[in-house]
Amino acid sequence: MNNKFEDFLNKYSEDEWLETLNDLLPAMHAVDRNATQIWFRFYPLSLYRYLRNAEDKAVAVQKFVMQGDYELKDQIDSSHAFLYGHRFWKTVKDEITKRSESFNDKDTNLTDEIKQIAKAVADRSKANESLTVGIVAVGLMSLTQVGLDAFINAAGETNAPKGLMKKSPDQIVAERAKDDSQGLFGFLKTIDKQWTVRYDERADRGKFKLMDDEEIASGAARDQSQNWLAKDARCGEGVIPVECRSAACGTCWVGILAGAEKLSDVAERERKQMKIFGYNQPDDAKPILRLACQARAHGAVSIVIPPWNGVFGKRVYGNVEDVELEPATTSAAKLRETIATATENN
Ligand code: FES
Repeated sequence: MNNKFEDFLNKYSEDEWLETLNDLLPAMHAVDRNATQIWFRFYPLSLYRYLRNAEDKAVAVQKFVMQGDYELKDQIDSSHAFLYGHRFWKTVKDEITKRSESFNDKDTNLTDEIKQIAKAVADRSKANESLTVGIVAVGLMSLTQVGLDAFINAAGETNAPKGLMKKSPDQIVAERAKDDSQGLFGFLKTIDKQWTVRYDERADRGKFKLMDDEEIASGAARDQSQNWLAKDARCGEGVIPVECRSAACGTCWVGILAGAEKLSDVAERERKQMKIFGYNQPDDAKPILRLACQARAHGAVSIVIPPWNGVFGKRVYGNVEDVELEPATTSAAKLRETIATATENN
């Protein structure tokens, strides 16, 4: 049974959550500004509600060709590990639980609730409030999707910060902005420049190299330093799951934590396809979600790889434009069928 706080949170649509998030961006430290927005796109409320209300959820999941870990209930304590604020998670969980017990206020709104809980977490953690706003918003959305009982029962455990995440928030932002030195005569180099792509800021080894103007997925495939397939059944070629390499399947979607401005502009086809896949983001030339098989880098970037992929834009958002599909190159025939269905006018 829902309590009053859950009822309050459930009143809001995905668009209202995203508007609230936008309003709160100035109050968020830059270290988690993109990360929080990306997290909300990795776990879209509209998709969760669509699947919850589906007559047959298993059929819907199959139709959307969903692969990997898409449900928050299975990753309550870990889905947000790429946020700096992840380290405050136990306190966030505690303060949200406390608020759910005391909530009885009709005269409030989502923005105020997030701010109030973020302040309580910051006070207890002796941290700046700007570092807790994002993770509190994530916590409230997690509660909305998993329900209060599961939220309370999650262990709340997190791993100690490692890699780049051990540094201060300002240092992390500065490190992310740095481009690789190209050596003494680097300014003379034209075609053999190399850039670092960080895909896991919590691990010193969590990065690979990319040639200038190369697609992110190509550089990822060259890194065979680990058995990627053993870690994620979708990773047949490298740390980033890929299938078609032609913007036709959506398998390779990534969030851009930093360096979006150093990537090639979104081409028309990538933009259209991302809508079909279901990525609910503004029509920017350099958005926070990209297809790694399309985005080419001209500098160092930091990305985050979602633990799942699927094609749900038409059914969940209904904002799909017609597209010309190229002759399919993907080995995943079902993905092709789903995309073809998504572009039908019915
Ligand atoms: S691998 Fe299919 S869209 Fe990138």
